[in-house]
Amino acid sequence: MDQKIEEAKRQADEAAETKAVTRADVVKMMVQGMGIVIYPDKKLRLVCEKVKDDEFDDNLKMLAEALATVMRGHKGIGISAPQVGIPLQLLIVNLTGKPEDNIAVANPRVIEASEERAEQYEGCLSFPNVKVKVDRPVRVTIEAESFEGKTIKLELKGLGARVVQHEMDHLEGVLLIDHETKIRRDIIARKMKKLKARLLKRNGHAKPKKSTKANKPKKKKRKAKSRS
Ligand code: CO
Repeated sequence: MDQKIEEAKRQADEAAETKAVTRADVVKMMVQGMGIVIYPDKKLRLVCEKVKDDEFDDNLKMLAEALATVMRGHKGIGISAPQVGIPLQLLIVNLTGKPEDNIAVANPRVIEASEERAEQYEGCLSFPNVKVKVDRPVRVTIEAESFEGKTIKLELKGLGARVVQHEMDHLEGVLLIDHETKIRRDIIARKMKKLKARLLKRNGHAKPKKSTKANKPKKKKRKAKSRS
């Protein structure tokens, strides 16, 4: 009897070892390996590379799925590849949270933009708790490659147009903070540094202090209140 149990165990172990890794497993592993890159991080400043013709394969589709999963996990309505540390021209927009409403494209370029513009507050997964008023065209026509590698044209307006433009900024290394005045940019940068230090500490990666700057008398704190 014992022998039979031993044999079953051995077979189960063997099966577990040789079990094929499914596509879903790979996407899951990708998601687990992805973290949102938080400002200030040089990766957010990289100008992303175009996806080349021969790169439109299943790996790219899995990458897009993983990116969309990370976005949903953070309750975002848009995400770009550099925000998970991948300097490729990929972005996903989803205003509803339903997977079938994903706008997922590579190599987007604006081919038309309305003269009419609007200013509205925007947030960004790489800037937790920061809102910046950004002035943008209200309608844009985008040309891009689908993940099948086909060239597609998208006409977007309102929030969709805004989010796509925001994500396209990321692909050029342009960030929310760049749309701010110098003074407010500095305020946000300080706030982000503090937040990042807190996050690192919480995750047990506290940076060793000590810098000559730290010995300088501190400037008066200014609160980054929302202003008009
Ligand atoms: Co963003």
